[in-house]
Amino acid sequence: MSDLILELKELKTQFISKDSTVTPVDGVSYNIKKGEILGLVGESGCGKSVTALSIMRLFRDTTGKITGGSVQFNGKDLVKVSEKEMAMIRGKDIAMIFKEPLTSLNPVAKIGKQIIEVILKHEPVSVRQARETAVKMLELVGIPRAEQVMNEYPHQLSGGMNQRVMIAMGMSLNPQVLIADEPTTALDVTIQAQILELMKRINEEHGMSILLITHDLGVVAEMCSRVVVMYAGRIVEEADAENLFLRPRHPYTIGLINSIPVIGKNVERLESIPGNVPSLTNMPLGCKFAPRCSKALERCKAEEPGLFTVVSDGMERKCRCWLAAEPDKEASYA
Ligand SMILES: Nc1ncnc2c1ncn2[C@@H]1O[C@H](COP(=O)(O)OP(=O)(O)OP(=O)(O)O)[C@@H](O)[C@H]1O
Ligand code: SF4
Ligand SMILES: [Mg+2]
Repeated sequence: MSDLILELKELKTQFISKDSTVTPVDGVSYNIKKGEILGLVGESGCGKSVTALSIMRLFRDTTGKITGGSVQFNGKDLVKVSEKEMAMIRGKDIAMIFKEPLTSLNPVAKIGKQIIEVILKHEPVSVRQARETAVKMLELVGIPRAEQVMNEYPHQLSGGMNQRVMIAMGMSLNPQVLIADEPTTALDVTIQAQILELMKRINEEHGMSILLITHDLGVVAEMCSRVVVMYAGRIVEEADAENLFLRPRHPYTIGLINSIPVIGKNVERLESIPGNVPSLTNMPLGCKFAPRCSKALERCKAEEPGLFTVVSDGMERKCRCWLAAEPDKEASYA
């Protein structure tokens, strides 16, 4: 039996309007294994959220459309299933929590009612049973006075509590995959740590696979077993977390790691990556990272590298860089 729960193959998502077509996700392939926490990282605008929204087919009232590739889940291609089937999979089998819980919770409905509705939509249970499950879930995510919170509105709770409510709602149907898009960005550091701890516990105790999207490589190091690095709508590196942090290979990953603040390291000398993520309407021709890359060769500007599989020290990784295709240039990675 496959140990994969979700498999993206050459996924391509575009926003198509009369005036322009942009492609924020361009041929993205990666998978999530059963029971793992996979980190998805990259600077702002790299296509992390659009990838997640594509898995869920949650384009709401935007012009987003999947125009290529597939998302395999339990033997089905989520790109092809009907909207009705997708609506059943959303929440029940794959749940998603967002950066801003308040944009996803209904401000005029009580917390309890919102969780109960989600349960009743997917499970053949009575209102009373759904209510019991909702209280249990709020307790599980560490909400004190769960019974009372059931009767409160989102604005009566703090940001951290609302994020817990979102996680409780996400987990109430015991989904196989939880997609957490910057789940702690809007929270203060102490609450952040509690929410991450909670997600780790849920992963360990319930075997739930988690796709954790974040800017924060410190969080990834703490939480994830594997990491996918995105740049300009593409995967540029994928490796086991330890391998990635100890021996990053793609110049972009090296730049990201060098810009993590380290206690004791002089912050003034923190190296951030020069330049910006390219605009979707003005992508460089060859390697999309070339304008910012200190290792760029002439070839890099003309030809885009593929995602090469590289094995070193017995460990496999994927790297989209011409240098990865030429082992004799490895020395220049240092
Ligand atoms: N509705 C939309 N219409 C047109 N372009 C969009 C839309 N939503 C996102 N994009 C573009 O797609 C690109 C990728 O956006 P995405 O939200 O996936 O980035 P991200 O990696 O999640 O960034 P962040 O870390 O800031 O959340 C961006 O250039 C963004 O402007
Ligand atoms: S392909 Fe060239 S420009 Fe792109 S990351 Fe590698 S060395 Fe840099
Ligand atoms: Mg995002």
